[in-house]
Amino acid sequence: MTELEKGIKDEDSSLQMENTYIPELPDGSEEGDFLALDLGGTNFRVLYLQLKCGKIVVEHVKKYHISDELRVGCGNKLFDYLAECVSNFIHSEGIADKKLPLGFSFSFPMHQRSLDVGILRQWTKSFAATSVEGKDAVQMLREAMQRRGHNNIDVVAILNDSTGTLMQGAAMDKRTRIGLILGTGSNACYVERADKVYHWESERHGEKEVVIDTEWGAYGDNGVIDFVKTDFDRQVDENSLFTNSFTFEKYIGGKYLGENVRVILAHLTKQKLIFGGNISKKLLIPNSFNSSFVSLIELDTVTNSIVETEKILDMFDLTYTNDDIAVVKLVCEMVSLRAAVLVSVCLSELLKHMNKDDVTIAVDGSLYKCHPRLKSWMEKFITLLAPDHTFHLLLAEDGSGKGAAFTAAIAARLRHRSMGSV
Ligand code: GLC
Repeated sequence: MTELEKGIKDEDSSLQMENTYIPELPDGSEEGDFLALDLGGTNFRVLYLQLKCGKIVVEHVKKYHISDELRVGCGNKLFDYLAECVSNFIHSEGIADKKLPLGFSFSFPMHQRSLDVGILRQWTKSFAATSVEGKDAVQMLREAMQRRGHNNIDVVAILNDSTGTLMQGAAMDKRTRIGLILGTGSNACYVERADKVYHWESERHGEKEVVIDTEWGAYGDNGVIDFVKTDFDRQVDENSLFTNSFTFEKYIGGKYLGENVRVILAHLTKQKLIFGGNISKKLLIPNSFNSSFVSLIELDTVTNSIVETEKILDMFDLTYTNDDIAVVKLVCEMVSLRAAVLVSVCLSELLKHMNKDDVTIAVDGSLYKCHPRLKSWMEKFITLLAPDHTFHLLLAEDGSGKGAAFTAAIAARLRHRSMGSV
């Protein structure tokens, strides 16, 4: 049995996949007004979307900053703040009295018991608010909304960003069967045959397929991919908010690629191999080297320039020669290339497992969008690794927001259908 099959069967596996309880993809009939929330990165976003014949015809978005105190402070305060933002948004949009279904994009590993129940397994990325792990994020949101007196918002679905991206991708291209996030974190979901999924009573539900969230960021937490781990990775792990977890994400996520490069450059400087052995204070600060710098340096490599690299090294108060620049570029290339290979290995396994022809992989995330050659590397490696499976990568922007509205529309459709069958 492959790791993938073990994951779906919910046995002791290195992949703790989750059922999303989404049994169908957008089919072009989605209609109505929806609210969507997107929590997972530095900003919290509230969206109002109108769907007509499966297309988004109106989209209003507002971003709210989430402070560090809120992200790592008391969980109830975090949800109170989310409710406050929703309240601010619906008042400014003049829709506070409307009864609206809401899709909640909550991009953290959760255990779903239905479309509108998501128990947070553990925080990831830069969140660590207390007393939320083990609890249902939908319930916490509902309670916070009630505390503010908002009783006419109906949270009908919770999902993560990779699922949202799959939904948004499917609305753009019917062949979409995989959703991929390459942003701060990384994750993928795919459409699985319902009869292969343990704990999914396909006979009772009558559904043939269901979307599975692989939560591949945590792949390797049990040591199965330790052969890839270097001393640099161990240092990145030590400097992270959650040590010994989210192993795979630390090789490929935007939150970590820059840190990987920083750790390597600091090591090479201490060995007196670059920058004349003169380390700058800034380069010693964990997480000071953003992954967007890696993308910019890669851009220099692709365009045969050194302009961006010089600007970045100046920001770090480093004195450098042309040889130093060449080394910095090589380090960025190697770290990026490893990420591209690892993501491609997993995507090609998914393609082989699904065994369908002509699969569209919907992708979103800052890393994917900003890095100048991740996409072309991935196309090359997936083709090499899964030569019998045709695929193409489709940018599905704002999958977490738009996809939440599509999921809410599907949840409403399923409710309607089940009421009709009573
Ligand atoms: C983390 C979360 C996952 C999310 C991913 C991308 O890996 O656990 O749910 O999809 O980040 O944001």
